[in-house]
Amino acid sequence: MPCLLFPLFAADSFAKSLTSNLSCVRGELNMRQFPDGETYLQFVSKLNEQDCIFIATLNKPNEKIAPLLFAAATAKELGAKKIGLIVPYLSYMRQDKRFHTGEALTSQYFAQLLSNYFDWLITVDPHLHRYHTLNEIYTIPTTVLHATIPMAQWVKTHGKDCFLIGPDEESKQWVSEVAHLAQVPFIILEKIRTGDREVTITLPDVKAYQHLKPILIDDIISTGKTLIKATQLLIGSGLAAPICLATHAVFAGNAYQELLAAGVKQVVTCNTIEHSTNQIDVAALITQEIIEYHMRAHKAV
Ligand code: R5P
Repeated sequence: MPCLLFPLFAADSFAKSLTSNLSCVRGELNMRQFPDGETYLQFVSKLNEQDCIFIATLNKPNEKIAPLLFAAATAKELGAKKIGLIVPYLSYMRQDKRFHTGEALTSQYFAQLLSNYFDWLITVDPHLHRYHTLNEIYTIPTTVLHATIPMAQWVKTHGKDCFLIGPDEESKQWVSEVAHLAQVPFIILEKIRTGDREVTITLPDVKAYQHLKPILIDDIISTGKTLIKATQLLIGSGLAAPICLATHAVFAGNAYQELLAAGVKQVVTCNTIEHSTNQIDVAALITQEIIEYHMRAHKAV
């Protein structure tokens, strides 16, 4: 029996690329807000003994989490077999440590919530810094996919005579991988964050790279301050205006406009969060993973 796919929060175009390649059919679910802001939910599709997959990218998580958990709870109650979650951008990963006394470890609480309602989860490049794997906080099977291969492909196609720059220590994991795959040099900068919108970045000596085009790579662009500061330093040191390449186009407030105003040449992101800068498709990575998951499951039977 084909599984039922439910795209939530306008994940329709993402879901279309998945359903065209998977033995899944689009499920029917009515979701709307009551006038007071509460959520109304009604499954039109019959769920009894059906495997269900929800697709929900979780930027702006506070407004999405309650409807998402209600949808999963309803599906379970209506007889769904396994309920999976494809979450192209997984939020609440950055508070991975109690930095100051009394702070909430929201990464853990969020992981517990999703683990209580779903049977498995697939995501793309979650912000793994102090955690090495999602298993440290999620109690359900999780799969982490990486945008490094399609990013490296983009660099190979568009980044003639370039070098890559990671703005901070955390970025080394994906920048080094993209550099390796695209066969280009890379450097990593040093960043100290002193507030939500305050970062200090130190640039090493870049004389050796003056003849190359800079491409900054990061996992998330949130306030944009990291890439703005890095861009200003690169331009200030005589390098060409950089291209900014990122996985998740979170863009809090006016971050995108501010990044453009800082003088970047171009901003390119993956389609984990819909944005006009999306140029790198990660739906194929997810499709492949689901196909392989089903093959493994059949072999195990
Ligand atoms: C750092 O922890 C992340 O890899 C990104 O550098 C960070 O999330 C970017 O945030 P913002 O755009 O707010 O500087």
